[in-house]
Amino acid sequence: MTLDVLRTDRPSRKELGRVLMESGALSSDWAPTFAAVDRAMFLPDLIWPYDMTTRTSSPVDRQKDPDAWYDAADSDIPIVTQWDDGAHRGPGPGELSTSSSSMPSVVYSLLQDLGVEDGLRVLDVGTGTGETAGALTHRLGRENVTTIEVDGAVSAAARECLCRHGLYPQVVVGDGFEGCPDAAPYDRVLATVGIRSVPTAWINQTRPGGAILAPWGTFYSNADAMVRLTVTSGVATGPFTRSVEFMKLRAQRGPTTRHDDYLSAGHLEDAERSATDITEEEFVTGRFTDLPFVLGLRVFQCRQAVAVKRDGARPVWFYGLTDSSWACVMFRDEEARASVWQSGARRLWDEVTDAYRWWKRRGSPELTRFGLTVTAHGQRAWLDDPAQESWPVCSPD
Ligand SMILES: C[S@@+](CC[C@H](N)C(=O)[O-])C[C@H]1O[C@@H](n2cnc3c(N)ncnc32)[C@H](O)[C@@H]1O
Repeated sequence: MTLDVLRTDRPSRKELGRVLMESGALSSDWAPTFAAVDRAMFLPDLIWPYDMTTRTSSPVDRQKDPDAWYDAADSDIPIVTQWDDGAHRGPGPGELSTSSSSMPSVVYSLLQDLGVEDGLRVLDVGTGTGETAGALTHRLGRENVTTIEVDGAVSAAARECLCRHGLYPQVVVGDGFEGCPDAAPYDRVLATVGIRSVPTAWINQTRPGGAILAPWGTFYSNADAMVRLTVTSGVATGPFTRSVEFMKLRAQRGPTTRHDDYLSAGHLEDAERSATDITEEEFVTGRFTDLPFVLGLRVFQCRQAVAVKRDGARPVWFYGLTDSSWACVMFRDEEARASVWQSGARRLWDEVTDAYRWWKRRGSPELTRFGLTVTAHGQRAWLDDPAQESWPVCSPD
């Protein structure tokens, strides 16, 4: 991290603020914080801006190309700041991005959704660069903000940036899954790291009537949705609010699914063959659409992998996470009915089809009509009303 003076008063930063305001991501009550807490204050010299179209990251070094560095800082994109839990060295991207500065539009939408007012106490899980903690501290005061980060080096860099700019939240190194009991109770818990199950510790450390806002998802895909849970007497319940994609909590990244392991357990030629009327257009709807998220809510312990389309053919694979069952649906441009292969004890495509038809029968409800209730007995997802239609969703622990 360099101590060079930051370029302030940048037109590109003002333009970003204007765009965020216009889109509604930045609300007027958070505008003074946006103006005071500059993302560039928290970025290291070497960053990897993420290109949302190509889904790739390339290095940008502030010392070598300051214009490109500021350009990235002032763009509404995620910026990777660490690879492979810090094991990666060198300017090229590593295997897995493990810490980042989130998209400004997402950060300020979440801060808005958090619903804070003066005097509220917040636990920020996943300190990362420290920008979110810095924004919360600017708004609520140092005595009201605790931020926890699992990676000691990431936390130390964030603390340095925060202190250098006169922001002093309580910075803690630890597993955010356990919350931070020392500073509890909190009025709000905000996570900027994806979870598959809501930790009981967060519920226990939240004041009755308080709220937990976190990116939540299943193993079905990387698509998460923000869930805003209100806590009362050991129960947390509330709706999904928007679709997002966050890097996952270290312990909840999920099992690695190796295609070859599944195919060697049940060979393609021995798989059960059938066909489906469901078309590629209906099924492959894109990463940030409702369908993959909803299928993840309905299909137990299964991972989907949508392959790249080649020569008019697109396979979509499904891997069972409880055994070596797999399925494949092959959409081909010239074929009205897609071919299906299923292998193992589970019929994964049948399970996915049942979930798809359930969703269609209900009029393809949007993600925001779904919600989650978490109790000591587990997690249940629901549609519209938890008392009417709810079902258990798997948790990894
Ligand atoms: C997307 S970044 C957070 C961005 C951050 N809000 C900011 O302002 O830059 C997610 C962070 O969560 C951290 N993380 C992963 N697992 C964690 C855990 N179990 N407890 C606390 N932090 C964790 C990662 O190391 C990473 O720094």
